[in-house]
Amino acid sequence: MHIKKGKGRLVIVLPLLDVVIKIPLIQGINFLIGVWKAFVGKTYTERLLKIDTENVYFRGVLENWREFTFWNHTQNPFLQPTYFSFFGLLNIQKFGKPHDIKDTDLLYQIQYYTKWFCWEHIHSFENPSNYCLDDEGKIRIVDYGNPYAQKVIERFGKECHEGISTTFKDGIDDAHWVELQKIGIEYGKFKQKKTLKS
Ligand SMILES: Nc1ncnc2c1ncn2[C@@H]1O[C@H](COP(=O)(O)OP(=O)(O)O)[C@@H](O)[C@H]1O
Ligand SMILES: [Mg+2]
Repeated sequence: MHIKKGKGRLVIVLPLLDVVIKIPLIQGINFLIGVWKAFVGKTYTERLLKIDTENVYFRGVLENWREFTFWNHTQNPFLQPTYFSFFGLLNIQKFGKPHDIKDTDLLYQIQYYTKWFCWEHIHSFENPSNYCLDDEGKIRIVDYGNPYAQKVIERFGKECHEGISTTFKDGIDDAHWVELQKIGIEYGKFKQKKTLKS
């Protein structure tokens, strides 16, 4: 067992049980006030957002809850399955093995298979530690609570899961870059090319 800290959650990793437990990092006394106020809105998500418009205090709770509902609704093959959520306060997700793809090789492939749409929420997609290997050795995403990222995954997740290779090694060579530019032009995302080569 070991513990990892993400941007909004603490993750207890239990490889022997083949699960991880995700617990939101709670920010300050406002959380307690928020819990009390949360019983006024319509849906659970709306209630949380109503009293946390900046998405600060409940970020981890919301991401947990959205991960659970998104997996349930879509069962998208690019998602590491989320088995259970207790109102976002505690999530149980399938454990994924770490991968060792270099960040530039991963980013290249993500841009390629999402046709650059990963830029709709690049924070979810650019961080290599947001991915793991599934039982077949394919790449899946573990951090998918953001609504913009979810739209991209709904559209391109299948291609990402099928296409991303753990042995790909030319993420910044010129031939691949030209290919990526073509896709960028085709999908109207060309102007963001500078982010790949700095
Ligand atoms: N299903 C999983 N299997 C293995 N490790 C995981 C899993 N989910 C999360 N982790 C580890 O915990 C870290 C934080 O989890 P993450 O879902 O990215 O939370 P945050 O939204 O707080 O960044 C990840 O970067 C990863 O190292
Ligand atoms: Mg993360």
